[in-house]
Amino acid sequence: MDRRLVLPLAALLLLGRGVRPYSDKTVEIVELVVPESPKVGDDVTLTCRFNLVGNNHRLYTVNWWRGKDQFYTYKGTTLDRKHAYSFQGIQVKEEASTEESVVLQDVSEDTSGLFKCEVMGEGPSFRTAVANKTMTVVIPPRKVEILARSQPDPPVYQVGETIHLNCTATAAKPRATLTWKIDDVPVEGHHVLRLPDYEDQRGRITSTLNLAWDPPAYFHSNVARVACHAVVGGHTTIATKDIYLNPASSAALNHLYASKGCQLSTTWTILNLVFFFLVRHSP
Ligand SMILES: *[C@@H]1O[C@H](CO)[C@@H](O)[C@H](O)[C@H]1NC(C)=O
Ligand SMILES: *[C@@H]1O[C@H](CO)[C@@H](O)[C@H](O)[C@H]1NC(C)=O
Repeated sequence: MDRRLVLPLAALLLLGRGVRPYSDKTVEIVELVVPESPKVGDDVTLTCRFNLVGNNHRLYTVNWWRGKDQFYTYKGTTLDRKHAYSFQGIQVKEEASTEESVVLQDVSEDTSGLFKCEVMGEGPSFRTAVANKTMTVVIPPRKVEILARSQPDPPVYQVGETIHLNCTATAAKPRATLTWKIDDVPVEGHHVLRLPDYEDQRGRITSTLNLAWDPPAYFHSNVARVACHAVVGGHTTIATKDIYLNPASSAALNHLYASKGCQLSTTWTILNLVFFFLVRHSP
């Protein structure tokens, strides 16, 4: 046998599960699933997938903590397998929880923290594996609204004035990220301006993004549909509003377009004549 193959082969044999001695038992956590930013009021499923490696290796316990609070235990060795404990912001749905996952009911800001899963194999070795992840419960804005000037209602704008709209997302935590769209197309750059935030004593932030533009840009048939998207921890709230352009002010503009159209047809006529001339004089 090629000597260069001997070492890798030996390594493979040692690593292979089939050749582990009976005493060589380990626990491995394959995956810990903890939603990063669920919304207030959600039911949240935490999952800890594990392997008990080794011949006839059985589960002793799975324990769950939030910080120092142990809120759920699953025992592999008794008939009375599930045990749940309540803490501030932690209410376990015991019937929906299993050896692999635990369901938290109606999460709140108080639920946030570092979540840890610990899996222990049975004695005498009690091999253990732990994994942790942070969960921060977010509060979507209480409302998202688009404010235009109040008179008239609905607002009607004229060609020649600048349109100003405010999108306000109220009392979100963390701060909502706001973006504007007109007819589904994102609007950025000099058209948008971030106004100062307001934070209440509970740390909830009200934020405002201004949108400004000069009509008739973005209007189709004298209407522009504007939308404001407020995103908090991956959750989006959308407000929409139809903005109107005074037809009389755009009629002057239509007239302008019409006269341009007329010029265009004159050019077209000349081109046609030139073509005619060329064709007639070609051999
Ligand atoms: C959480 O897990 C990381 C590795 O993913 C580890 O470095 C850290 O010490 C753990 N923290 C706690 C408090 O267990
Ligand atoms: C937008 O918000 C700013 C700051 O609060 C305010 O001065 C302005 O009048 C608002 N504009 C509209 C159209 O509501």
